[in-house]
Amino acid sequence: MAASRAGVAGRYLAAVRADTGQPTAYLPPCGKRYPGAARRPLRWPGPGSVPLGDGCLDRLSAMLLGYAPRRAETITLAGLSALTGAPLDTPTPSRLLPGWHTLRRSVPSGGAFHPNEIYLAWAGSPDLAAGVYHYDPPHHCLELLRPGSPAARLDRLLGVAAAPRHALLLTHRPWKNTSKYGAFGYRLGIVDSGVLLAQMLTSPVDATPRLDLDPALAGELLGLDAELEATYAAIEFPAHADVPWTPLASGGPPPATGLDHDRLGHDAAHPSAVALHRATYDRYADAEPPSADRLPADCLSARRLPADRLPVGPAAGRALDLPPARPLDLVAAAARRASAANLGPGLTAGQVADILACAAGRAGSPALVALARQPLYPEIWCLARTVDGIPADAYRYRPHRHRLVPTGPPGTADDAAAYPHRVDRRMVTRGATLYLVHAGSRPVDQLSPASFHRLHLLAGVALHLAGLAATATGAASRALGGLTADAVAARLGLPDGASPLTQLLVGTPAPRPGVLAAHLTEGNPHG
Ligand SMILES: Cc1cc2nc3c(=O)[nH]c(=O)nc-3n(C[C@H](O)[C@H](O)[C@H](O)COP(=O)(O)O)c2cc1C
Repeated sequence: MAASRAGVAGRYLAAVRADTGQPTAYLPPCGKRYPGAARRPLRWPGPGSVPLGDGCLDRLSAMLLGYAPRRAETITLAGLSALTGAPLDTPTPSRLLPGWHTLRRSVPSGGAFHPNEIYLAWAGSPDLAAGVYHYDPPHHCLELLRPGSPAARLDRLLGVAAAPRHALLLTHRPWKNTSKYGAFGYRLGIVDSGVLLAQMLTSPVDATPRLDLDPALAGELLGLDAELEATYAAIEFPAHADVPWTPLASGGPPPATGLDHDRLGHDAAHPSAVALHRATYDRYADAEPPSADRLPADCLSARRLPADRLPVGPAAGRALDLPPARPLDLVAAAARRASAANLGPGLTAGQVADILACAAGRAGSPALVALARQPLYPEIWCLARTVDGIPADAYRYRPHRHRLVPTGPPGTADDAAAYPHRVDRRMVTRGATLYLVHAGSRPVDQLSPASFHRLHLLAGVALHLAGLAATATGAASRALGGLTADAVAARLGLPDGASPLTQLLVGTPAPRPGVLAAHLTEGNPHG
């Protein structure tokens, strides 16, 4: 069985490379709702309301705001024209929809599709009855799917607990973005899933992530069909001990709405993406757990590099020690985060140092630090272009020494093919680009489905940490999911077999002409 799965990721990536067509229309992303469910609004720290406190439900509310709308934003056609350089009467605005006219959340998401859902298995508290709930982000409200204590089900799913606990269950809707991104959307959605996981773990609540779930048990608890919506993570956190409880009601949740476009996306999805998804969530068929697939940092071969530019060895002598990383308030940063549509120059070595350290897991909660130690956590490489205190060059970040080692082959210029989009090309020259790189013992296309999934999930974690850190240091950033891997690998001087997974452009904030934005939350001590 393992042998027949070995090529699943490779076949999928080949399909992504071959899938160059542009979609003619995007199906707008629809939020999932349970219209028949009892609804429980959570307190909203919006303009004029009382700030959230330290009560159980307020803490939950603060955590879930990590996926809630934080600002309403729209861009005028004139503004769009100014930002992109496209003429006013261009068809661009409709092509960009729905990205430009949506409620903006704490987390970024490829194309603003936000292909994830959050469920809550609540042990009960004085202010919220025990039960399984679905989170409705636009209304910041819980929908009750099954009343009663989920404790016994959580014991089966997560192992028997010594103390009462609640759990958030995070799911991925893999076909929500298919109409826009085709085969690539599947990979993008896993990165988005990692972004959400990182966001949930920035919460000050003492939370423990669990990634090795039995998908069948999780699906049973939530009443999900894993083909359309799969549970990829649970986050446990402590509950009050003395709340009386009744057993969880039997039967599934009320019927859900909002999945019609996902079904169409599934029908149109590339068979290799569907095969990869099935192989990932078919727990018992994958003989190889997502684990030891990264060489120790110093064992990387660097066959593409000229001898004087090796990332370890001679070049280490020219390594750049970075300023010490400062503590960052990632929670507060989440409320202010936005993807930049324009970047300015003036980024400093101190900001880059803070961002790199945070993305490498050195500055987050204990749960985030633990994730960053996972074997498939990506390396961070960096292309500095206009950074005060860092010579323009390509670098590999060495987190343990907090230093940059130059790696760029001498005289290498940017390949325009690496940045085909006009806005991207303009933005990359303004600061630095961080690349999350897989440099494991096996290339990405030879990973098992479970490892492929874990790798992209962890890339999403690192991407979001870098983005939050950028906000916290006063920098601006934008993730760019699409990249020309070969051009980037050559520019960075990556060793054979290593590949860039995703990237974050970082610079200083610059005006965004024509953008109208209103913040929706305030007075939240948890961000
Ligand atoms: C994994 C990922 C990939 C992204 N790729 C791109 C991209 O290729 N081009 C782009 O302009 N924005 C990209 N974005 C940014 C999203 O478009 C942006 O997050 C979304 O429109 C929501 O806006 P906000 O981040 O300001 O809330 C990406 C974001 C993520 C998380």
